[in-house]
Amino acid sequence: MVVSKSWLLIKHFEGFPKSSDFKLVERELPKIKNGEVLCEALCFSVDPYMRPYSQYSLKEGDIMMGTQVARIVESNNSAFPVGGYVVSNAGWTTHSISDGTSLTPLLPDWPEKLPKSLALGTLGMPGLTAYFGLLEVCLVKDGETVLVNAAAGAVGSVVGQIAKIKGCKVVGCAGADDKLAYLKEISFDEVFNYKTVPSLVEALKKASPDGYDCYFDNVGGEFSSVALFQMKYFGRIAVCGAISTYNDLEVSKGPYVQFPLVAKELRMEGFLVHRWKKRYDEGLRQLITWVLEGKLKYREHITKGFENMPAAFMGMLKGENTGKAIINV
Ligand SMILES: NC(=O)c1ccc[n+]([C@@H]2O[C@H](COP(=O)([O-])OP(=O)(O)OC[C@H]3O[C@@H](n4cnc5c(N)ncnc54)[C@H](OP(=O)(O)O)[C@@H]3O)[C@@H](O)[C@H]2O)c1
Repeated sequence: MVVSKSWLLIKHFEGFPKSSDFKLVERELPKIKNGEVLCEALCFSVDPYMRPYSQYSLKEGDIMMGTQVARIVESNNSAFPVGGYVVSNAGWTTHSISDGTSLTPLLPDWPEKLPKSLALGTLGMPGLTAYFGLLEVCLVKDGETVLVNAAAGAVGSVVGQIAKIKGCKVVGCAGADDKLAYLKEISFDEVFNYKTVPSLVEALKKASPDGYDCYFDNVGGEFSSVALFQMKYFGRIAVCGAISTYNDLEVSKGPYVQFPLVAKELRMEGFLVHRWKKRYDEGLRQLITWVLEGKLKYREHITKGFENMPAAFMGMLKGENTGKAIINV
């Protein structure tokens, strides 16, 4: 008999999430049936999308949504042998039974020396978001100037490094000075702390007096309202996320994007990484190659203990993480 621990979302978030929105429960799992496997979690991811999407996808009382790297510990499904590793969408739960539909095996030739938790970060969904968003939406070219916000996070840190690999000048911003030091370490050209600069306009102008060809936007809100006016003619904006607005209780009003878009003939495009699902293998193989070559560095912000999942989630939303926020069981 296996007892699974799970975090339930017992109250939909109102404003910033609270500890009381979650509840830890234990449940006995039944024996696996034909075609099923039993997964045991190694590590979990907490991601910004959980804040807005839980509102639409979960009922109060459901297991909190999310991905984990898990090991197959029992199997009645030949596609998932015991001992194999998968990325699972089972949510915040230590053990889960699956018929295989929500499981993605790690690449069979996953390099021994790389931690498997990277499959939730630089070598997983966030890394692929950076890869396809920058190359397919921003369409970066050698010699261009790229701006990225939430730059020290899971997606942003990969965006900046791929832009450098592609021969760009990279400007990044983050909300803490130790994050700026990290950005310099991973070869960003210009960095600033958006929380402490006296003027965002002046900081953007100082970092790139000629403006920006590409803007990879993870933050939205007021930052974007200012940044759009610093774009070069025919600039491209990849709208990846809007974390500055995820906890808003009311939809904020303008400033509106139309004028800078028209005046500078900009192209602004929202995207979801799933658009390139059929090309994930290509993206992952390229990202792994860059990591092994030392061109793409990674950092993980690790919280120990499944019992600390809500704290880790809220900490990530507050900006406590440098690199990918991961929870080890
Ligand atoms: N389109 C897609 O398919 C897709 C896929 C993955 C992620 N995303 C989006 O990409 C963005 C980054 O995700 P991630 O997983 O890489 O998270 P992350 O950057 O690792 O963590 C979130 C970071 O956001 C920053 N932040 C929080 N509140 C902010 C605010 N009010 N203003 C500015 N920055 C704020 C914090 O860093 P600071 O210290 O810099 O404030 C925090 O560390 C999110 O918007 C997410 O929704 C989109």
